[in-house]
Amino acid sequence: MIVLANDHAGVELKKEIIGLLEQLNLPHKDLGVNSPESTDYPLWGYRAAKLVASGECDRGIIICGTGVGISLAANKVRGIRCVVCTDCYSAKLSREHNDANMLALGARVVGPDLAKMIVQVWLETSFAGGERHSRRVNMIGKIEQGQEP
Ligand code: RB5
Repeated sequence: MIVLANDHAGVELKKEIIGLLEQLNLPHKDLGVNSPESTDYPLWGYRAAKLVASGECDRGIIICGTGVGISLAANKVRGIRCVVCTDCYSAKLSREHNDANMLALGARVVGPDLAKMIVQVWLETSFAGGERHSRRVNMIGKIEQGQEP
C-alpha cells in the first residue's frame, strides 16, 4: 500500500501520480488535501510518515511546492528515509543504496511527466542490500536513535 499526502501546492500533481498508480494497478491511500486552500505541509508529511513508520503502508509519496518542507517533516519520524528527487537517477539510487521509504516531489519544480517517471522508477527499484549498503543505512538509524554512527 502506498500512502500519498500533499499540501495545497501539490493537489494537481498528486492527481497525476494517482493516475499513474491506477495505471500500474498499485493500491494507494490518499490522505489529502484535495483543495487549493492553504494548509501546513508538516501535517501532511507527518501523517503519511506515521503510516509508513508503523508498517500500515509500505511506501509514501508526499508533495509540496518544492518537496523540501514536507520531506523535512517526514524525516523527523523515526524509521523514515524520505528523499526529495528531481531526477530519475537519484530516485533509482535512493532505493538501491539508501532504501528510501518515502519520496517527496516538488510540484513547483518538476513537471507532471518527469514526476511520473521519477515515481515509476522509484517504485520499481529494490534496495540492493549487501553489507556495504545495509551498514550505511543502519548507521543512519543509529544517528536517529541518538547514537554515534
Ligand atoms: C507553500 O507555499 C510552500 O511553502 C510549500 O508547498 C513547500 O514548498 C514548502 O517547503
